[in-house]
Amino acid sequence: MSRSDRLLRALRGEPVDTTPIWIMRQAGRYLPEYRATRARAGDFLTLCKTPELACEVTLQPIDRLGVDGAILFSDILIPVEKMGVPLRFAEDAGPRLEPVRDAAGIAALRVPDPEADLGFVLDAIRLIRRELDGKVPLLGFAGAPFTLLTYVVEGQTGKQFIETKRLLFGAPEVAHRLLGKLADSVATYLAAQIRAGAQAVQIFDSWVGQLGPEDFRTFAAPYVARIVAALKPLGAPIIYFANDGATLLGDAAALGADALAIDWRLPLTDARARVGAGLTLQGNLDPCALFADLPEIERRTRAILEGARGTRHVFNLGHGILPPTDPAKATALVEMVHRFGAPAP
Ligand code: CP3
Repeated sequence: MSRSDRLLRALRGEPVDTTPIWIMRQAGRYLPEYRATRARAGDFLTLCKTPELACEVTLQPIDRLGVDGAILFSDILIPVEKMGVPLRFAEDAGPRLEPVRDAAGIAALRVPDPEADLGFVLDAIRLIRRELDGKVPLLGFAGAPFTLLTYVVEGQTGKQFIETKRLLFGAPEVAHRLLGKLADSVATYLAAQIRAGAQAVQIFDSWVGQLGPEDFRTFAAPYVARIVAALKPLGAPIIYFANDGATLLGDAAALGADALAIDWRLPLTDARARVGAGLTLQGNLDPCALFADLPEIERRTRAILEGARGTRHVFNLGHGILPPTDPAKATALVEMVHRFGAPAP
């Protein structure tokens, strides 16, 4: 067995030779070669929308790090823009959207046609698959409906999520209409990614930890379940990332995804006790652990691997790798995971 199929096998719960690893945001600002390509592109959205450049940065971490998977370079907000929400990225200040908060604005949003509106993403996927030539599998991704709703309604990365909860709690039927449109957009978009060549997909619910269990069951879970059900017949493994979701994991594990990605706030062994043996867990080293020295990184990495021994596991950080990270630490982490990782049952 080799790097080429470890990740997909672990996602499906099949035996592997050692624990596979990929890293959220593995193509990003901590890599000098990323910063160079980004400078050449001029701005972040141009980088996302130019298939040759998106392909180039997707491939940058593959050989440098030795990871077992590539993740499409794009952003969760790209399809939101195509729904009719103007988007820009303020330099070093994150995304800025023209917020949509009322029934009329939400009624005017459309479900994008992936081929017509997001062809550059599908072209990037086809190009990346050709360049990878089977070396490692390619993951596609999208945002989960609730997380995308927070960006549509807040117009930026939320802090207290006041506008989001004003809508959810004050006009739930309007919120459900928006969530339904987002779910349809994500389902058709991910299906198109899989048909274009994505071999697994991750659904990022970065802000779902803002919801208590009851609101998770009302405003988040049904829409993720709808997406998972739509994609299941296509056969590509589906990963659901429930960031900061320690209190939601029982429900999150019941959505039909093949794998549940978790943050670092809950030990993997505790998470396993809550979700049962029937799906793969992905995670969950604190991204800030990579600021420690190598012995401390190794201690934490081995503790996670030890806790996962004999169970379905894909190693990852608990959230995206941070810009000040030394790339050599990321390379060392991948090597440690492969060295100390366990064959699955
Ligand atoms: O993982 C990868 O390597 C693939 C690329 C990827 C990006 N964004 C590139 C990016 C992925 C999977 C995403 C997903 C994404 N985008 C999420 C979910 C993941 C998470 O972190 O929870 C979210 C919430 C977004 C929205 C977004 N995009 C924010 C909040 C920001 C600014 C934050 C920051 O770090 O500056 C972005 C910009 C962004 N997306 C960058 C990258 C590499 C930095 C842009 C730059 O080059 O200046």
